[in-house]
Amino acid sequence: MSTESKNNTALMEKIVSLCKRRGFIYQSSEIYGGCGGIWDYGPLGAELKRNLREAWWKAMTREREDILGLDAGILMNPAIWKASGHVETFADLMRECSLTNKRVRADHVDPQSGTVLKYSGAQSPTGWRWDRTITALTKSGEHIESFRKRIRALIAQNAGESAGKPEEIELLNEEKIDVVTDSVDFHPETGGMLGEARPFNLMLKTYLGPTATEADVTYLRPETAQAIFAQFKNVFDSSRVKVPFGICQIGKAFRNEVTPKNFTFRSREFEQMELEFFIKPDEAVQIISGEVATWHEGADLTEPKPNWGWDMWHRYWVQERTRFYEGIGLGNVLEYYWQTNDDLAHYARACVDILCEFPFGTEELEGIAARSDFDLSQHQKHSTKSQEVFDEELKTAAAQLSDDQKEALIQKRLAAEAAKTKGSPMPEADVRAWFERLFKGNYVPHVIEPSAGLDRMALAVIAKAFDESEKVDDKGKKETITVLRFHPRIAPIKVGVFPLLKNKPELVAKAREVYALLKKHMNCFYDETASIGRRYARQDEAGTPFGITIDFETLGEKGPELLDTVTLRHRDGGEQERIKITDLLGKLLPLVS
Ligand code: GAP
Repeated sequence: MSTESKNNTALMEKIVSLCKRRGFIYQSSEIYGGCGGIWDYGPLGAELKRNLREAWWKAMTREREDILGLDAGILMNPAIWKASGHVETFADLMRECSLTNKRVRADHVDPQSGTVLKYSGAQSPTGWRWDRTITALTKSGEHIESFRKRIRALIAQNAGESAGKPEEIELLNEEKIDVVTDSVDFHPETGGMLGEARPFNLMLKTYLGPTATEADVTYLRPETAQAIFAQFKNVFDSSRVKVPFGICQIGKAFRNEVTPKNFTFRSREFEQMELEFFIKPDEAVQIISGEVATWHEGADLTEPKPNWGWDMWHRYWVQERTRFYEGIGLGNVLEYYWQTNDDLAHYARACVDILCEFPFGTEELEGIAARSDFDLSQHQKHSTKSQEVFDEELKTAAAQLSDDQKEALIQKRLAAEAAKTKGSPMPEADVRAWFERLFKGNYVPHVIEPSAGLDRMALAVIAKAFDESEKVDDKGKKETITVLRFHPRIAPIKVGVFPLLKNKPELVAKAREVYALLKKHMNCFYDETASIGRRYARQDEAGTPFGITIDFETLGEKGPELLDTVTLRHRDGGEQERIKITDLLGKLLPLVS
C-alpha cells in the first residue's frame, strides 16, 4: 500500500551500490546475468538479517510466556494450499501481449495514446509465415518506419531463428485502424495489443518425488503462516498452553511475483516472520467475563486482560509491533493504513498495514490482520480433523447462563450475520449448532496475524541508517562520507578493534587480547591497516557503532593510571571516552543486545 510517492531514485542507487560494495546484498547469480527477483546477502547483510531475525524472535518468544516457536518445512502437502484458498485465489490478474506473449499485471498498464496499426500477418524469405493478426500502438512521436522496424524486431525475437533476419520480415497488409487516447489495451513496453485479463497464480510449483507427474505437484510455500495453522493442534496438544496464545515462525517464502521491484522490496524469494496469535471468540469472552472490552482512544493496552475480544487484541498487536520497530530504530518513519471495508477479505475483521518510508515511497512493511476463525475452520473442513479446543472455564461459565441469556447471545450473533455486507451469512441452524458446541466449552480459536517481511525490514533499516555528507580533507579535497547509523542492537558489526600501530607488537598483542575478549559475546572486527581515521571511516560505512583503539596509554607508557584502558569511540557523535578493558563488556553488552 503506497500513500505517497517520494521517489528518490538517486538515493536508492547509492544504497544499492553501497550494499554491493560493502557486502550487504548482491544480485543472485550475477556472473550469469542475474536471476530476477532473487538476492543474496553478503557477510554484513547476513549478520544484519540475523540480528533482525533474532530481535524479532526474542521479542516474540523469549520475552513472552504466551508465544511458542515453530520451524516447519517449506514444502507441504498441497492440500494445505487448497484449504487456505491459495490454489484458487492467490493470483494477480495478467494480460498478455499478442505480439510477444509478454505478460503485464492488469493494474500496472499506464494509459497510452497513439495510432493503432494492424497487419494481417508476416512472412520472411526463409519461408516462415505468421498467420496471426498483429495489432500494435505507435509510441508517442514514433516515426512509422521506426515503428515497423521495432515490430519486425519483436516478431523476430518471438519467432526465433526460423523467421530469419528482422529486416527481411515483411509485414502484410498494413492498415491504420484507430487513433486512441489514454488506452490501457496495449503493452507498456512493446505496444502490442493486450489480451483479456486472466488470473496468474503466484505460487511456485514443483514436484515432490522422482516421477514428476501431475500427482506429485506441490508448491514452495508463499507464506509461512499456513504451516502454523496446519500444526496448531500438535502445538496445542504438546505444549500445555491455553488460549490466548501464539505460535510464530520465521522462514523462507516464495512468490512468482510478476514484477519484482525496488531492490529486495518485492522479491520472488524472501523471508517472513509471522505470528498467529490465537484468541477466544468474542462470545466466549462475553460468557466468561460478562463483557467484551471495547477499544477507545487512550484505552490501556499495556497488559492483556481476560475481557479482551478481537478488537483489543488487534490494537494491542499494532502497539506491540510498533514498539518493536522503535527498538530497532524505525520509530519515526512509520505510518499506518487501516484497510477499509472494501479492502478487507470477507472473513477479516480488520487489517492494518504498517508502512515505512523507503526512498521509493512509503510502502508496506508489515500487515496485522484480525482473521476470525477462517484459517483453522478451513483446515478443519478440508482435513476433517477437528481444530477445536476445549475450555473448561468457558464450560463452567456457560453452565451458569439461563436459557434466556443463551438465546440473547444467539440472537445477537444472528443479527450480526444478517448485517454482513460481505460473504454469505451463516445459516441459523449452523449458528445454533456453533453455540451448542460453545456452551459445552468447545470452539475453533480466532486469530490475530502480525506478518512481517525480513528482507523489507533489512532494506528499511539500511535506508533509514544511510547518512551521507561532504567533508573537506586536510588538503582541501572534498570527500563524500557515508555512515550507516544502525541501531547498535541490529548493527552487523558491533565493535571495531584497532591497535594504533601495526608495527608495535605490544599494541597488536593487546588489541588481539581485547578482540578475543569481546568476540565471544558480539560480532567484532579487528583491523590494523591504514590510519586510524581511515579505519574509523571504514567501520562507519559498515554501520559499526563502536570503535576501540589500543594505544600507548593502554600499555601504561603515559602513566600507570591509564594502564589497561582503551579509547572507546562512538560512531554517532564521534565522542571518545577512556575506559578500562575490564569494564568494556559491562558497558557494551547492554547497548548491543
Ligand atoms: N500471511 C499473511 C501474508 O503473507 P502478506 O501481506 O502477503 O501477508 C506479509 O505478506 C509480509 O511479507 C509483507 O508485509 C511483506 O513485508 C512481506 N512480503 C510479502 N511479499 C513479499 C515479496 N514479494 N518480497 C518481499 N517481502 C514480501
